[in-house]
Amino acid sequence: MSRQHVDHREIAAFAQDKVNLPKDWADTYRAQARGLRERLERYLDEHPDFTLKRMQLSGSLAKGTALKTLNDIDVACYVSGANAPHEISALLDYIAERLRKAYPNFSADQVKPQTYSVTVSFKGSGLDVDVVPILYDGDPQWYGNLVSQEDGSFLKTSIPLHLDFCKKRKQAQEKHFAQVVRLVKYWARRMKAENSDFRFKSFMVELILAKLCDDGLDFSDYPDALQHFFTYVARTRMREKIVFTDCYAASRVGSFTEPVQIIDPVNEVNNVSRLYTGANADLIVDAALEAGDAIDSALYAPTKQETVRYWQKVFGPAFQG
Ligand SMILES: Nc1ncnc2c1ncn2[C@@H]1O[C@H](COP(=O)(O)OP(=O)(O)OP(=O)(O)O)[C@@H](O)[C@H]1O
Ligand SMILES: [Mg+2]
Repeated sequence: MSRQHVDHREIAAFAQDKVNLPKDWADTYRAQARGLRERLERYLDEHPDFTLKRMQLSGSLAKGTALKTLNDIDVACYVSGANAPHEISALLDYIAERLRKAYPNFSADQVKPQTYSVTVSFKGSGLDVDVVPILYDGDPQWYGNLVSQEDGSFLKTSIPLHLDFCKKRKQAQEKHFAQVVRLVKYWARRMKAENSDFRFKSFMVELILAKLCDDGLDFSDYPDALQHFFTYVARTRMREKIVFTDCYAASRVGSFTEPVQIIDPVNEVNNVSRLYTGANADLIVDAALEAGDAIDSALYAPTKQETVRYWQKVFGPAFQG
């Protein structure tokens, strides 16, 4: 790759400037989630039979993979399963009612059931917190039934084990794993903005990159790591089954009928991409082919201006080289 006009350094600077959530914002948002968690813990000390058991920061803010455009704070709420309604809208009302009890300083309208979660809005500064229910029966590894934010179904999984999974890859390639995740998410977000049919869930991006990381790809050169990601997607057409062995043996993973098969690293029967159709996969593949071609063309581009123009096909006009 010709590195004369745009190199790793320029991509790293772009990431720092335009892609990443600044650290002090992330700290503020994490403190906001911590406040919710600690207040619930205090309430539980006095009301040990209360059925909301724990608030756990989850999602990209917990993993250190959030983008600057983050628009809410994901917090999982563990609800003891025995008496809670299992029908989604009744469950959300049940949680909202109890949140209002545990947090009496919130006015009723600050706690609102949405389609598959309950939002807690903070007046003034700060983002809203998106409280996602997990029906929980006391499992020591915090397995429970997470309400899918895609279709409201219950998915057996463990958020703390997901955080461990991600942490391992972050430690294997310090700084770079999380950075490449954010760069690819930024690209995917742009593709979504351009085409409303395009979908590519952040968790899937992260799992594909975890697989490349486990296979030995070096993430320390961003143009190169990005090109490998796009090439992998184009070569496999998103039809290669992805399995991890952190929590179970590969032989335990059965067969699936869905076209895209990226298996939850903490539950071998949960296909994270179960709702992706062949058409969804093809759109991802087409976009990856274009992005890969653009990065290749950046190699041959004779001038800085042209090189930047090719990188803008990947990252949009915010990329200025
Ligand atoms: N299908 C699923 N099966 C199991 N767990 C899931 C599934 N989808 C999401 N999760 C859990 O929810 C978390 C958040 O996933 P999501 O795809 O919303 O990404 P994110 O990291 O929060 O990114 P973003 O910055 O786009 O919000 C994941 O880290 C995972 O713990
Ligand atoms: Mg999220």
